[in-house]
Amino acid sequence: MCGIVGYIGNRNSQPILLEGLKKLEYRGYDSAGVAVFTEQGLKIQKAKGRLAVLESQLVAAPLDGTIGIGHTRWATHGKPSDVNSHPHTDNSMKFSVVHNGIIENYMTLKEELTAKGHRFVSETDTEVISHLIADLYQGDIVRAVQQAVQRMTGAFALGVLTEYEPDRLVAVRLASPLIIGVGEGENFIGSDIPAILEYTRQVYILNDGEMAVLTRDGVELMTLEGNFISRELFHVDWDLITAEKAGFDHFMLKEIYEQPKAYKDTMGSRISPDGTRVVLPEVGMSAETIRGIRNVHIVACGTAYHAGLIGKSVIEKLARIPVETDVASEYRYRAPIITPETLVIVVSQSGETADTLAALREAKRCGARVLAITNVVGSSVAREADDVIVTWAGPEIAVASTKAYTSQLVAFYLFGLYLAQTLESQTTEYIREVIAALRLLPEQVEYLLGQSETVKEYAKHIAQHQSLFFIGRGMDYAVALEGSLKLKEISYIHSEAYAAGELKHGTLALIEEGIPVIALATQEALLEKTISNIKEVKARGGRVFGLALSGNEELGKAVDEVYTVPRTHPLLTAALSVVPLQLLAYYTSLARGNDVDKPRNLAKSVTVE
Ligand code: AGP
Repeated sequence: MCGIVGYIGNRNSQPILLEGLKKLEYRGYDSAGVAVFTEQGLKIQKAKGRLAVLESQLVAAPLDGTIGIGHTRWATHGKPSDVNSHPHTDNSMKFSVVHNGIIENYMTLKEELTAKGHRFVSETDTEVISHLIADLYQGDIVRAVQQAVQRMTGAFALGVLTEYEPDRLVAVRLASPLIIGVGEGENFIGSDIPAILEYTRQVYILNDGEMAVLTRDGVELMTLEGNFISRELFHVDWDLITAEKAGFDHFMLKEIYEQPKAYKDTMGSRISPDGTRVVLPEVGMSAETIRGIRNVHIVACGTAYHAGLIGKSVIEKLARIPVETDVASEYRYRAPIITPETLVIVVSQSGETADTLAALREAKRCGARVLAITNVVGSSVAREADDVIVTWAGPEIAVASTKAYTSQLVAFYLFGLYLAQTLESQTTEYIREVIAALRLLPEQVEYLLGQSETVKEYAKHIAQHQSLFFIGRGMDYAVALEGSLKLKEISYIHSEAYAAGELKHGTLALIEEGIPVIALATQEALLEKTISNIKEVKARGGRVFGLALSGNEELGKAVDEVYTVPRTHPLLTAALSVVPLQLLAYYTSLARGNDVDKPRNLAKSVTVE
């Protein structure tokens, strides 16, 4: 997703903008650019491709000036190209805009402005904003931006400069994240905190419908209607080292190895010291409210949706409440039956995913109580939900989500147990058993991380293939979906995940000599059934890599290779079996020479619908 940075102060802005953009690279992008006030006026440099391309342009022709805006673009309207890159400007070249999000009515505005004589050079919706502001400008950039925003529909965050007022930088937030960094004699804007953390820890988090006017000496916050807002500064207490690679070759590998810590931190003090109960003070639901829950909807996208599939099994088994899991982009358009007795759980690592946020709002509009599971304190999802369970995974930078997913599983285990103890749907002995198994997970993950050699070897094998399958039953199927998504997104190998029993209803036709099939068989109650499905695959020439619980030797005999996972409580197997699949995706991507942390076409945080 696009990234925005901005600087106003007394230092040269170009290196600050470039450093800030580097910190936002994790969001995914296909082009980059900066606009800086120089002695010759407002100058723009932009280029398709990695930041290195822009950097080399700026080495050849530096932009010197103490005010500037920068942008990394993830294409929505118009292909990645130099001309479509941000910042955009108007025909007078006196205004410059960076934008994250989508302007839905940009075609209408474009036609209107074209009729007035404006000429457009790009295919983007953003260029329309710079022309619109220029058209409305009558000596006050704040007023012009406010009027322009009234005319625009969609979701966006903006950074705006004009040559007419070289001591002001204007920022706007409407449904796309934007923060303001406050320094001494200098101020910043950024799509995310890492962009400005090197310079200040004092931050304002803009809410939807708010704007900020930055000068060198101060920041004014106001609504889009111009009413001033007073707000406490937020002090950032984590450091950049946490967001750096710490000796690992890639963020993804670092984040896979951080999982034992993420599990421990997410459990934290949420388990009573005697190991008998889950304590969730952040969930403000009374016992009566919990007893009134008739059904649960879990809504999320991508990997978070896969965590939701496990959440469904866990809550249904522990609390005996019916649960539906939905892909967020489908949820609100299928007219779901949401009542005040529905608990809607939204799951989002970033807390800024547009589809998930829209689902949350729809749920609230229908009167449901919303619980968010998110990794980002202060994110939109966290702020708009009634209750929030934060997953303490720490910043996740790689586009492929790993530690955020497993921390979401831990959050579901905790919440499922919390419901069960409140509803008394399980015995205290059973709850104690699950909690004891939960506490063992971090060291079991450590063990799995020490067994990565088998996975590395297998990765070399599948890196040669163009297509493969994952199969599993029950919760293994949900993990198969996640393993398959992980492999697709970073190795670019076509793969499909199937419920093992479903294969024979059509997909078995695709099994031919040598095709790799990864079979998950950690659900002991379903082991024999899964083995029958594996035999169906073997009989058609499939080469099967099995994932079994230690001690299940029968599986070893049915497959070509086997990888064993330590035994745990049947509800918790996903938290272990996904780890070798994450490593498999990582090493396969590496073997194929791909950009592991920044896979093609993808963005870390998807803030458009
Ligand atoms: C995960 O590897 C993906 N990159 C993607 O599916 C992601 O989980 C999805 O976009 C949801 O993001 P969120 O958790 O930030 O809402």
